[in-house]
Amino acid sequence: MTGSLPSTMTAIEISEPGGPEVLVPCERPVPSPGPGEVLIEVAAAGINRPDLLQRTGGYPPPPGASDIPGLEVAGRIATLGADVDGLEVGDEITALVAGGGYAEYCVAPAPQCLPIPKGLSVVQAAALPETFFTVWTNVFDRGGLQPGESLLVHGGSSGIGTTAIQLASALGARVLTTAGSAEKCQACVELGAERAINYRDEDFVQIAKDLTGGKGVNVVLDMVGGSYVQRNISALAPDGRLCYIAFLGGSKAEVNLAPVMLKRITISGSTLRPRPVAFKAEIAGNLQKTVWPLIEAGKIAPVIHKTFALRDASQAHSLMESSTHIGKIVLTV
Ligand SMILES: NC(=O)c1ccc[n+]([C@@H]2O[C@H](COP(=O)([O-])OP(=O)(O)OC[C@H]3O[C@@H](n4cnc5c(N)ncnc54)[C@H](OP(=O)(O)O)[C@@H]3O)[C@@H](O)[C@H]2O)c1
Repeated sequence: MTGSLPSTMTAIEISEPGGPEVLVPCERPVPSPGPGEVLIEVAAAGINRPDLLQRTGGYPPPPGASDIPGLEVAGRIATLGADVDGLEVGDEITALVAGGGYAEYCVAPAPQCLPIPKGLSVVQAAALPETFFTVWTNVFDRGGLQPGESLLVHGGSSGIGTTAIQLASALGARVLTTAGSAEKCQACVELGAERAINYRDEDFVQIAKDLTGGKGVNVVLDMVGGSYVQRNISALAPDGRLCYIAFLGGSKAEVNLAPVMLKRITISGSTLRPRPVAFKAEIAGNLQKTVWPLIEAGKIAPVIHKTFALRDASQAHSLMESSTHIGKIVLTV
């Protein structure tokens, strides 16, 4: 197999920080897997909003990661590095990577590879890792969401939101969500949200309280920050958990700490990309055990909004920037 590998590949690079037009096709050497890594012949690569931030210069790759954007891929294992157990050349897998996904070949740590769930296409499989790992570690590990508890997810129609709604409701939680249009709200309800709140003309704090007998929700997953911080605290029940994964509405907020103390609120935040392989391996194990069977049973499926050819990555970024999508945007290779 190694003998049949080309020495160069087409990839998409960021020619300079800027708008979608700075994403340009280029020729790069096919990367070599190091110890504990595999080389994947990429069939599809998911797009995530952090890729847009990287493109504009606001989210540089962590040390050692490829400068090529792309945090998740699906395809076939082309070669194995040293010391890889349990994977074979030819295996069809999906992988979480710290960069390098927008390319014909991509290296991934073996523990971050998962089998493509039975019944899913490569496009669907490529849409899984970044949002499923992120939602798992924030909502269930850090947020400790339990069956019977309630979750408020902001940005319900996003890649993250569509994942969180499905996962939390499949695992027995009540889900409320916010989204920016009636069409997006409708999609969120179809995915399992008990109530989707159009944040442009409804008050999520009031609705969260009304639907929980005045108590509030147990967990909030927020990507907005800014003016939402205090309102999230208001929407939470005693012992509630507020989990931050982004701050699209601003990183700074003035907060009244009294309700944080009186309700014993835990505020947490995390970024997945720089975490070590061992940390991501643990999430991969939990996903394979708990979530992959739900996908194979047809209870959860990634929502694919649109696919683009690899060369058209700039169009895919323009679409995500327009925020008219519902679910995931995926590149096909
Ligand atoms: N921390 C981590 O480890 C991690 C990992 C992955 C992703 N993320 C972050 O998670 C977020 C979602 O990522 P994605 O790839 O799923 O992006 P995406 O599909 O582009 O979603 C962004 C969403 O934000 C919503 N939004 C913006 N302002 C809002 C507001 N005021 N209230 C409610 N919703 C609002 C948009 O909906 P409307 O257009 O309807 O407002 C859209 O659905 C991004 O900010 C990304 O950086 C963090």
